[in-house]
Amino acid sequence: MKLWGGRFTTAESKLMEDFNSSLSFDKTLYKQDISGSIAHVKMLSKCGILNVDEECLIISGLEEILDQIESGSLYIEGSYEDIHSFIEAKLTEMLGEIGKKLHTARSRNDQVAVDMRLYAKEKSYEIITDVQSLIKALIELGEKHNGVIMPGYTHMQRAQVVTFKYHLLAYVSMFDRDMKRLKNAVEILNESPLGCCALAGTTYNIDREFTANELGFSKPINNFLDGVSDRDYLLELLSAFSIIMMHLSRLCEELILWSTKEFNFVQISDQFATGSSIMPQKKNPDAAELIRGKTGRVYGSLISLLTTMKSLPLAYNKDMQEDKEPFFDSITTVQSSLKVMTEMLSTLKVNSNKMKEAVKMGFLNATEVADFLVLKGLAFRDAHGLVGSIVLYCEEKHKAIEDLTLSELKRFSPFFDESIYEYIDYENSLEKGIKKEMK
Ligand code: ARG
Repeated sequence: MKLWGGRFTTAESKLMEDFNSSLSFDKTLYKQDISGSIAHVKMLSKCGILNVDEECLIISGLEEILDQIESGSLYIEGSYEDIHSFIEAKLTEMLGEIGKKLHTARSRNDQVAVDMRLYAKEKSYEIITDVQSLIKALIELGEKHNGVIMPGYTHMQRAQVVTFKYHLLAYVSMFDRDMKRLKNAVEILNESPLGCCALAGTTYNIDREFTANELGFSKPINNFLDGVSDRDYLLELLSAFSIIMMHLSRLCEELILWSTKEFNFVQISDQFATGSSIMPQKKNPDAAELIRGKTGRVYGSLISLLTTMKSLPLAYNKDMQEDKEPFFDSITTVQSSLKVMTEMLSTLKVNSNKMKEAVKMGFLNATEVADFLVLKGLAFRDAHGLVGSIVLYCEEKHKAIEDLTLSELKRFSPFFDESIYEYIDYENSLEKGIKKEMK
């Protein structure tokens, strides 16, 4: 069943019909399509283009179709070109001639554009909530292990002491920015393309403000050509999703490393790990690896749509149908990744002793030793060199700096006195200067 055909003399090839059909994936949009149609019909009646009886019949028909789809009595399948054709066909089957009036002063071009915007908005709000839950899990994990110290790294080499909580708060900052990006993208996309019609508006005196308002958009889109051919909002969201995945993937990488026997800082719950079919001792961090792996897939969607859009002349082109699968796939991927990460963090075990041990064995107070000498009057560059030789000495003796006796330290500099031990104590050092912010 087609929405066109009048000017054709030969039937469409079956091959082309299958190639062209988007129903198998744009059925995802059935709810938005029905909401968009209801708003459109209300507007047509308000503007005197349909009468009130027609309005009521069409709206109750559309509501009936929605009920049937949601209750499972109407299955979205068959040789329809897309979800728009499917719903219109079902409405016409139900109402006869009146059903055919629904599409007055509308094109599938503005119809699909409004459906996608409504869907993108709804899913973005869901993802914002998912990011909020993740942020909450990160904060709770940090609070639960308040005061636990660990090595902070640069170049994957132990650098200076930080708290575990502070390390997690770095991710909180990242996900906080992600939320801002999502909210910003929603604000930009929140304009209605309905009424742009195919590309040039309509000779009917329709009310675009009314439908925009009815559907929760802030205003109608300015330019008709732009309204039907803009996919920037999907690109912005895919870019925000890619950055979320990049952040998740960095966290995954750390969890994977930290759960190795070599680090042993954390244990991922059995609920989020799997075993090996051959090596009985193994527990693999599959959930974290999968999130890291799925990141590539979301980047792929962004690049795919950017490439689809790059040479499209105005206005609508069928190429744009290719926006759906990557976008839908990214939504599912981002949502499941955020949920799995949130649960994985809520069930994570932290080996604080191992973290502390790594701090002690990493000379992470070497910078504080240099700071101490500077306070006593040495220039920082000289203090840096001097502490370097202390570290060399310690490595030879298999000792930490704080394990050296005062007379050993004095061999390096007369500036050392008893107060050095208090000064370079790891917990104490976190109380000094702006490091207090880490607490
Ligand atoms: N399935 C189409 C899409 O997703 C709907 C719009 C069709 N418009 C058209 N002029 N053929 O883009």
